[in-house]
Amino acid sequence: MSQSHLVAALQNALGSDRVLTSIEAMAGYLVDWTGNFRGDALAVVRPSTTAEVSALMRVCSENGVCVTAQGGNTGLVGGSVPLDGLLLSTVYLCTFEDFDPNSGQVTVGSGVTLAQLHAFAVGHDLEFGVDLAARDSATIGGMTATNAGGIHVIAQGMMRKQVVGVEAVLPSGEVISTLRGLAKDNTGYDLTQLLCGSEGTLAVITKVRVQLHRPVATQLLVFGVDSISAALDTAAGFIGNISAAEVIDRASVECVHRVTGISVPFDSAFHLLLEVRGDLDFEALAQHEDLIVALDATDREKLWALRERVTESCAVEQVGVSHKLDVSFPQNILGDAYTQLCDLLDRDGVTQVVIFGHLLDGNFHIFFTTPAADQEIEREVLELVARLGGSISAEHGIGRMKAAYLHLSRGESEISMMKSLKSAIDPQGIMNPGVLFI
Ligand code: FAD
Ligand code: MLT
Ligand code: ZN
Repeated sequence: MSQSHLVAALQNALGSDRVLTSIEAMAGYLVDWTGNFRGDALAVVRPSTTAEVSALMRVCSENGVCVTAQGGNTGLVGGSVPLDGLLLSTVYLCTFEDFDPNSGQVTVGSGVTLAQLHAFAVGHDLEFGVDLAARDSATIGGMTATNAGGIHVIAQGMMRKQVVGVEAVLPSGEVISTLRGLAKDNTGYDLTQLLCGSEGTLAVITKVRVQLHRPVATQLLVFGVDSISAALDTAAGFIGNISAAEVIDRASVECVHRVTGISVPFDSAFHLLLEVRGDLDFEALAQHEDLIVALDATDREKLWALRERVTESCAVEQVGVSHKLDVSFPQNILGDAYTQLCDLLDRDGVTQVVIFGHLLDGNFHIFFTTPAADQEIEREVLELVARLGGSISAEHGIGRMKAAYLHLSRGESEISMMKSLKSAIDPQGIMNPGVLFI
């Protein structure tokens, strides 16, 4: 089918206002959040119902046209911008339905943003277990597709733990639904969990049924500590009552201070933010010299900003090409891993090295810049991670960025099993080609 016939068929299926083809109209969809990944597309299509997604997928699979699903385009591994084919934006898939106040479950369209879901939960005296700084743009469909983590993994698990069911459209246009919301349903392969973390390579997720929780009051403590192991020792004193445990190194907080003006509480190598449930033992807390207990919501917001603004502050100060690596290590070697990462990155041509992340998930986010694109240094970092028994991607997924390094974290037979699943579900390979696998 020629491009003009394809566009006509798409406009026929959706209506012309939901099919963008001009360079200007498509521009924002074709570059990722980091600016490192740029793509191209025949058209950007914006369906508003599952039936429309199904019709689109049928046209694409009949004509071998590739499809990249895009939610909030906040992904950090180059998985949300297409190399060619169609970009399918979920922006208009934004319903809320079947809320069950007894189970605390609700079904949302994949284009619903995290902030919108948080607002819905608060409106029903509940809370949603995943939170991350991209909440105003990141979508529930994208977060399911990347199995997002965020700051509450230690208490609530990753996105897949919040997902009780999905509706999705397969490359063929067939619709599958596991939205039954049953507490127990042991009837064959878990297709819900298969699609969590599938990064748009198997199906377009159109709806997600999520579990909301009763909120538990927490208090925010900010410690100044001189090492990763001191941060771990401090957190150990609260184990069982921790809702979030974030660590930021000196370079991170100094970057946030320069860009935002937010004051840095302590002159310490690291800041540790602990969100803890239950009563505080002020006697025990008194032993910590560098400690702030947030007194109210304003305090909390200001102190959390020190952590939440790191990513954007690095982007603002960026000179040259940015490298963002999201890796995890076994917790018992986290301090040593931090030192080895710093040593590896301490070399000419590498600047703005910043390391922060989710301490008790063993998850560091490493940001650094080089004058020009330099895959070699990314490879060296990921090989170090693999040598230390870590994962080359803790929560952001593989995308295009790490597809060439998948073997560093997954065995040959695992990769071939994943590829067999992919070719069984997407035999033409039209779903997000180049993502996850090279
Ligand atoms: P997109 O970027 O649009 O897409 C991401 C991937 O999912 C792509 O491969 C895309 O093809 C696929 N996809 C999107 N929607 C669908 C769908 N409906 N069906 C099938 N596939 C789909 N991530 C974390 O895990 N933890 C964090 O703490 C965190 N903090 C962040 C902070 C900032 C400031 C930023 C910019 C990003 C952060 N991220 C974090 C990364 C990002 O927000 C997550 O990866 C998020 O899950 C992406 O959601 P999205 O809707 O933007 O997806
Ligand atoms: C975070 O935890 O802030 C995110 O994963 C984003 C990042 O890694 O920059
Ligand atoms: Zn993170």
